[in-house]
Amino acid sequence: MVWSLQTSSELTDQQFAQWSRLLENRSGICLSDQQRVFLQTQVSMRMRELGETDYSHYLDTVKDGVPGLMEWSVLIDRLVVKETSFFRHIPSIDYIKNFVLRKLSHDLPPKESIELWSVGCSSGEEPYTLAMVLNDAFEFVKQQPYFGITATDISRAALSIAKAGTYNARKIDMMEAHYSKRYFKRNDADQFVVQSEIMDRVCFNQGNILNIKDMPNMQMDIIFCQNMLVYFRRWLRHEIMNAFVQRLKPGGILVVGLGEVVDWAHPKMQRMPADDVQAYQRKQL
Ligand SMILES: C[S@@+](CC[C@H](N)C(=O)[O-])C[C@H]1O[C@@H](n2cnc3c(N)ncnc32)[C@H](O)[C@@H]1O
Repeated sequence: MVWSLQTSSELTDQQFAQWSRLLENRSGICLSDQQRVFLQTQVSMRMRELGETDYSHYLDTVKDGVPGLMEWSVLIDRLVVKETSFFRHIPSIDYIKNFVLRKLSHDLPPKESIELWSVGCSSGEEPYTLAMVLNDAFEFVKQQPYFGITATDISRAALSIAKAGTYNARKIDMMEAHYSKRYFKRNDADQFVVQSEIMDRVCFNQGNILNIKDMPNMQMDIIFCQNMLVYFRRWLRHEIMNAFVQRLKPGGILVVGLGEVVDWAHPKMQRMPADDVQAYQRKQL
């Protein structure tokens, strides 16, 4: 009883500052004062699982070498917001669909694979949505699907859900029947499994966007990054946007969440005129 009371004790101002700093340094996520209870709840729940009673001692554990990093990889999963859904922002999805259809109309049969990166992909709904839309675009022009989607996230737990590609009916009911019928199969547990033709197009990898410089330098046609940068400070959002530019092919597009990045411009990029969508195109050489 005493133990349980101790672990849910309040973070002091100093402890909140220390934990927030660690989270921001390691993930970019910047917490406001209003999120103190959230941080406290998540950290104390994990401490309870470990039989740990002291926030400062647990902080030292998390900072301590390789075992600390392993513990951090469990904890970070509790500290990120993983909310997502299929077809979450339809104007952005439609924008991608039209971009791909336009691209295919100039390049038939396509000479090279269309490469897309879903950054901060959470449990997979976003990259699978994009894969379904791209697959439909290839079918529309009567071509074999010649595209690949790289999907990355910091959370290993989210990625294991993504890789399983199995969702409950509530998630599936929210999408147009065409997609649910065409691209999902119901399993014995009454869940819906992404068809292999879609799953095979998506490659999931764990990756912290703060380490973007260490990630493989693939050149992308499309970078899709929504509802992740919003948790970062403005200067960091700009730095990551600059790094995205280096990973885009000439003519490639970058689509971010509407309003998530303000006052950003880059000499190699032009903002695309589009209502309800924040998209930039890399200028041709
Ligand atoms: C709110 S979800 C957004 C999911 C999806 N993009 C969408 O719009 O529905 C934010 C995702 O960003 C991931 N994330 C947060 N910080 C990250 C970082 N530093 N590197 C990579 N992924 C990160 C989280 O793990 C989480 O899955």
